[in-house]
Amino acid sequence: MNKFYIETFGCQMNVHESEKIAGILSGRGLYAADSAADADVIVFNTCCIRDTAEKKIEGFIGELKALKRADPSKIIAVTGCMTQQIGRAEALKTRFPFIDVILGTANQYSIAEKIDRILALNKRKTCIEVLSDEKPCIREDVPILRTSYPNAWVNIMYGCNNFCTYCIVPYVRGRERSRNLSDIKAEIVSLLDAGYSEITLLGQNVDSYGSDFSDGTNFYGLLKELSTIKGKFRLRFMTSHPKDLSEDVIKIIADTPNFCKNIHLPVQSGSDAVLKAMNRKYTRDRYFYLIDLIRRYMPECGITSDIMVGFPGETERDFADTTDLVERVRFQNAFTFVYSPRAGTPAADMEQLPQAVKKDRITRLVALQNRISDEISLEYLGKTEEILAEDSPRPGVLVGRTDSGRLVSFGGEKSEIGKFFNVKINENKASALFGERV
Ligand code: 5AD
Ligand code: SF4
Repeated sequence: MNKFYIETFGCQMNVHESEKIAGILSGRGLYAADSAADADVIVFNTCCIRDTAEKKIEGFIGELKALKRADPSKIIAVTGCMTQQIGRAEALKTRFPFIDVILGTANQYSIAEKIDRILALNKRKTCIEVLSDEKPCIREDVPILRTSYPNAWVNIMYGCNNFCTYCIVPYVRGRERSRNLSDIKAEIVSLLDAGYSEITLLGQNVDSYGSDFSDGTNFYGLLKELSTIKGKFRLRFMTSHPKDLSEDVIKIIADTPNFCKNIHLPVQSGSDAVLKAMNRKYTRDRYFYLIDLIRRYMPECGITSDIMVGFPGETERDFADTTDLVERVRFQNAFTFVYSPRAGTPAADMEQLPQAVKKDRITRLVALQNRISDEISLEYLGKTEEILAEDSPRPGVLVGRTDSGRLVSFGGEKSEIGKFFNVKINENKASALFGERV
């Protein structure tokens, strides 16, 4: 029993959770393997945000059957959002009886004890532990094996209280819990001391940071505290909510050189009727107001978004409101999704649109956003931007982001990862930017 392999699906929150699972397993003396085939312990950290994600994961879990048959001593663990849905753990056990342990989102830190128990019992019967606690305690003592140098993910809060009618997250991640400001700051300071150059704050809705403390702590206060940290580094955060993003927050980002001029602000829809049905609690006018505010304080800010089509009841007129908003705001980039009904959420019980309508709208939206992203890419040509070098799969090539969040590839060696370079951008190929160091 000496090697583990973690397959991660879904958002950055999960990527970071997997770093904690890796930290726990390596604390037990296990080493990271290069593939599932090569590992004694295989962990699937899952996502259930859309049906496509779930189908893909189920396909991958199915493939483990052959590995398990070839070597029954392998331990297979499944955790993450998928397991936390009502009845899902039992269904997984029935469909994939070779899974050894299924852990909910609040139970994943007990993975090492579960493995010990399986080994001690020396017989295989799926062990399920999925707590339904909506407010599990925040654990500050979990070791972390970081895998994204020079970036370090830092949770500032867990869970979500918003209950957008399409979204499963509040059901599988529980209510909002904020970490103590002093714990967050101490973690960041020690990461910077250890050589990390970029910190990304994580929360389902960072703008409501601290609202569970009822002592006035808020996201602006956290940023203000973090703005006092000395030295050169980059700070990003995700995700903001248009109902909560404040002028104070926009202003402090604009005023603090270490804070990246890059805001991810999911709009979901440009139609007031759809936003209301989604329970988003803002209007398209409020969204335009925020965009104006951001651009007024930071004309160079990279603004990105999440946009959904095919929400129940979305008319062609509603969709036209979305494309109109996209044309007017001109997002640097956007993640575009087809609405996917999630069992147990209010929108799943509404009357659904035909698949063909959804497909037609997503095709048009993607074409529009691609055109805009491409036009914005062209604006970068000839500019020299400061880039923080990250690893890339190609030898002799590094990638990195501009302050505004655009990815740029340029020549460099692995030993240069984590350093800042001035890069002159001179090529745009299919929305990928290339440049050379100056
Ligand atoms: N169907 C499609 N997209 C969804 N998202 C959340 N729930 C769903 C769903 N049921 C999208 C939203 C969110 C992003 C993380 O995923 O756009 O911002
Ligand atoms: Fe889901 Fe809305 Fe919470 Fe985001 S804010 S996680 S979309 S419920």
